[in-house]
Amino acid sequence: MSGELDGLRVHGDCDVGWDAMTPPNEVVDEYGVPALDPGFGEPDPRVPARRVYDDPEVVALREHLRANNGIRGLEICSPDEVERAARIYRRDGFVVVRDLLNPEQLGRIREGCAETLAEMLSQPGYRGRKYVAESGRLAHRYCYGTSSSSRQMLHHPAWVQMIDLPTATPILTEIFATDDYLVWGAGGDLSIPGAIEYQHLHTDGVDGQNRAEGDRRLAFARRQGLEIEAGKSFEELDFRTQRLVMDRSPGGVTINFVMTDLTWENGPIRQIPGTQTATQPPPVPAEEPEWMRLSTLVGAPAGAGILRDTRCWHGATPNLSREIRALPSVEFSAGWRQGRGFQKTMPHAIWETLSPHGQRICRFVKQAPGVWPYGAGDMQPLASKRREGYRKGAGANGTVRTVYTDPRSAGTAVRIFNQDTADADQGGY
Ligand SMILES: [Fe+2]
Repeated sequence: MSGELDGLRVHGDCDVGWDAMTPPNEVVDEYGVPALDPGFGEPDPRVPARRVYDDPEVVALREHLRANNGIRGLEICSPDEVERAARIYRRDGFVVVRDLLNPEQLGRIREGCAETLAEMLSQPGYRGRKYVAESGRLAHRYCYGTSSSSRQMLHHPAWVQMIDLPTATPILTEIFATDDYLVWGAGGDLSIPGAIEYQHLHTDGVDGQNRAEGDRRLAFARRQGLEIEAGKSFEELDFRTQRLVMDRSPGGVTINFVMTDLTWENGPIRQIPGTQTATQPPPVPAEEPEWMRLSTLVGAPAGAGILRDTRCWHGATPNLSREIRALPSVEFSAGWRQGRGFQKTMPHAIWETLSPHGQRICRFVKQAPGVWPYGAGDMQPLASKRREGYRKGAGANGTVRTVYTDPRSAGTAVRIFNQDTADADQGGY
């Protein structure tokens, strides 16, 4: 197996994936053992019967996707279309912007993604499976952020280079209507070939719509030019306007960077337009209509960024190709979050290399000088090993807990929350 990992690339065809020994819909627990609890993870009820490239059911799904996959008329902006990008983003909850990365930057993050993935896949799989799976996710799917024992990739220069891009910063500034936003983390979803299941639709966290944050969110909405009665506080507004304020003040904006052109076949992310304002949860897999399964970002080119409101319903789709589909990300947060629940996952020495703007927006995730962020650099798909990795780094300076998640508010069934003791007074998120 080391052969297929030598010179691994996250663009172009490769020999990785398609492990027929890994049954469809298998999800492993914290220790890497297939979970028997039917409530753990979200199976895809329409998955093909075998994880085999030319299995008849896989071929049939491939033909269906070839004919139907992708949002019709997907708009793709260029980086200089700042206002148009923000308009589409506010309307749909996401927008694709081409060329956020130049060829050198794209090359660096491709290399970072490939090296990191090779490290993860080099661990032995459970009883004859080719790979170790990530706890709480469907097979052949991983997340760089949740696989890191520090929970983020902010220790890695290839991710850090994407924090303050001359192409993306003006668009983020337009979306937040200020340059006083924050970096919360970095990571990103990936699927290797043979990820034949649909990942369930979910939001990345839930917007609690806390009234105590109403005035800060109102200020955010006003900065965008929304005409809201001057002089009134959030509590004085009518309900419809309060709803509009909540709709237009997302707490999180994630950029997923596209490593290889997203095609009908290689597992393009699906996004359901307009759902960033929904307070109801997304449908469970058994009830998801076909049009949502096909609502994917086919056509987003390598080097592009997908800016998405973290509340917007989204999910990963089958990768039936021979190409790895990685979407490394940087996760930004509205300034009104003021660092609550942020973890110090960026080494001080890396923070020092950032631009003044980059340094400002990373102030809540930067570790103290001389302290290596706990668990950073230790890539562990299994939740039990991530706990160990964080504990080893933190010693008495941190605690870690395991949380089983409502699947519709996260992409994984199990989450690990690290808590540096020094940050305990900042409260949870
Ligand atoms: Fe997600």
